[in-house]
Parts: sequence; structure tokens; C-alpha cells
Amino acid sequence: MVDFTLTEEQERLRELVRKFAQREIAPVAAELDREQRFSQEIVDKYYETGLLHGVVPEEYGGGGLSSLEGCIAAEELGAVCGGVASYLGANSLGLTPFLIAGSPELKKELLPKHCAGPSLAAFCLTEAEAGSDVASMRSTAKRVGDEYVINGTKQFITNGGVASLYSVFASEQPELRHKGISCFMVPAKTPGVSHGKKEDKMGQRAADTREVIFQDVRVPARFRLGEGLDGFKIAMMTLDESRAGVGAAAVGIARAALEAAVTYAKERKQFGKPLAQQQAIQFMLADMAMKVEAARLLVWRAAHLHDQGLRNTKESAIAKCFAGDTAMQVTTDAVQVLGGYGYMKDYPLEKYMRDAKLHQIYEGTNQIQRLVIANELLR
Ligand code: CAA
Repeated sequence: MVDFTLTEEQERLRELVRKFAQREIAPVAAELDREQRFSQEIVDKYYETGLLHGVVPEEYGGGGLSSLEGCIAAEELGAVCGGVASYLGANSLGLTPFLIAGSPELKKELLPKHCAGPSLAAFCLTEAEAGSDVASMRSTAKRVGDEYVINGTKQFITNGGVASLYSVFASEQPELRHKGISCFMVPAKTPGVSHGKKEDKMGQRAADTREVIFQDVRVPARFRLGEGLDGFKIAMMTLDESRAGVGAAAVGIARAALEAAVTYAKERKQFGKPLAQQQAIQFMLADMAMKVEAARLLVWRAAHLHDQGLRNTKESAIAKCFAGDTAMQVTTDAVQVLGGYGYMKDYPLEKYMRDAKLHQIYEGTNQIQRLVIANELLR
């Protein structure tokens, strides 16, 4: 039997995050979007709930949440603000390579400190010439004595200017392409780390997205994760894990748009009756609901597989892709249900639509997800 019922503990988690998001994020979401402002205050308050470092095991000072529980939280955050959901989630993304491949000694050295406060991490993989094509990265890492010297510029990094800890991918042997890449933990205060300009984005504007520049940045050799030269696989395993959570935030955006459309359709009268009694609108709402519920189940399945210790490469790509496409379709249709009002900034619908678009682009475009799915089917 398959049981889709959440446990009482998971229901409590969902309620806690839902109330947190309504109380702390909803009142400022439009303002953060308008002013393109990152709010550390929200990070501070989320930290107080004990969920900010939920992805980190309790033995290192984290919340010890399962992947499914992380997805439950991400949906609630996404339903209130896609940008905030993204930057709280990017902390988990930045820490995941470390959790996958860090030595127990390095984890004991860095993680309790990171988890002792409202700090954020960031995942530094993408470069100007290496977005989808990770193996083409130009950042380099050179061993010099007991240190590695890192040089390169990372682009479009969520939490780029506000993180205190980075997971950084750089090549020790560029001629080997993906087989030459390693991953390093780099504290943001390390000399040589600087930031480029903050990106002016279409959506998810609360998130601080920018270039992170590494110029002769020296880290102790023990800050390299894994065996070295296995950074590409660490990145892929990280994305397998994180894509379910990104899908969950997309489900949240889609759900919020659907709820707003349903409320509006019941209130708005045209041709002498509410929109909700027009079959054309009913069918749109029904299609939207089908997609939201299907996306959530795909997200939960990908997370559940991970929690069973099973590889979920295909399932997490399916979940991320379907949920991202769903968020785009459902928010677009929700704007349509509201008509002219949906297009205006007085209603949150146009923000949902702008926030949703990034879900088809980051953590691997949805074209890359289809490539991953096809590769898994055909190998
Ligand atoms: N787990 C473990 N190993 C994996 C793997 C996985 N999921 N996927 C691939 N590998 C292994 C392969 O088995 C292969 O191993 P061998 O060398 O032993 O044969 C190796 O990795 C290379 O695999 P490919 O030949 O498939 O590699 P590729 O160069 O063709 O690229 C790709 C594959 C799927 C396109 C990959 O580059 C990719 O996922 N690109 C998208 C990158 C991405 O998602 N970026 C997002 C940035 S983060 C972000 O956006 C977050 C944010 O800010 C919020």
C-alpha cells in the first residue's frame, strides 16, 4: 500500500511554517519584491523556529529534517514568497555538497559554527560560460603546500552577497573537463573573496543574486571535499537532492495562485453570475488543481526515495521539471482568471507569475531536466 498521509509531526511542521510565512513574510513580500530587498530579519526569525538549518543532522547542530519534511516546509514558504523561499532554500543547497562529501572532522569544525546562528550558505557552481554545461567551468584550484589557491568568477549565485559560507566548484585539471573538478568549502571572510553587482531580476527579487569573485583565495587543503577531482559528481548528487525542494517551492507558488483564482472566481460577477459558475472558468480551475496535486505527489516521491537512501536522479528531475512547468502554467492561468486585475500590481498574481518563471531556469533548466530524464531512461 502507498500511504500519502502525513504524520502528526509533519502536519505540525506544515502548520508551523504556514503560520511563520503568514506572520513574518506575507506582510513584507510585496515590498521586498518592489524594492528588490533581501531581508536578514526573516532569516533571523526563521532561525528561531529551528528550521533554517533543517537539512543539517542534529549531531552538527542542525534540525535533522528528512528530505520530505524539507519539501513540506519549502511549499509553505513558496506559497507566500518565491524569493524568500529561494534564499532560505539556497542555504540548504550550499550546505548539501558538504553534507554529502565532507569529512566528519571538517563537519565538526565548520558546521556547528554555521548552525549556531542565522547564517546562510551559497552554492557556487554556475559561471558565465558554464551554466548548463558544468564541465566547461573556468575556475581553477591549485595545490600550493598545505593550501589550495582558488581563482574564478561564479555567476547568478543565490545568497552571493549575504552568505558566510560557500561551496565552490573549481577545476584542478581543466583538460580533464568534468573529471578535473573539485569542491571546496570557502568561508566568505577569506581574503580574496569579493562580490559583483546585485542582479536586477524579473522575479524572486527578495533573493540576493550576484557574482562571487575568487581571486587568489587560499583555503587549507582539508577544506577540499571528498577525494578531490570528484566535484562534478558531488554537484550532480547535490542537485539530485535539492531539485525536489525546488519543486516543492514551485508547488507552493502554483497553489497560492490557484487559491487566489478560486477566491476571485467566487466573488467576481460577470453576465449576472459569479465567474465560478461559468464553465470555461471551472475547467481552467480544474486543470490548475490537477497539475498542482500531481506536482506535489511527484515532489514527495522524489524526496521519499532520497529518504530511503535510494538514487532519485530521474525522479527529482521529473519533480523539478513538472513542478516548475506547473508553476508557470498555473500562475499564467490564474492571471487570466483575474483578467485585467491579475495583470495589475495591486494583486499578487503577477508576482507569482514572475517568481514562477525562475523555476523553469535555475537548478538546471527544464530542458536540462528533460535531458537527465532521457539519459536515465536510455542508459
Ligand atoms: N549522480 C552521480 N553521478 C552522476 C550524476 C548523478 N546524478 N549525473 C552524472 N553523473 C556522472 C556520470 O555518471 C558521469 O560519470 P563518469 O565520468 O564516471 O562516466 C559523469 O558524472 C559525467 O556525466 P555526464 O556525461 O552526463 O555529464 P555532462 O557533462 O554531459 O552533463 C548535465 C550532464 C546533466 C547536463 C549536467 O551538466 C547538469 O546537470 N547541468 C545543469 C547544471 C545545473 O543544474 N546548474 C544549476 C546551478 S545551481 C542553481 O541554479 C541554484 C540557485 O542558485 C538557486
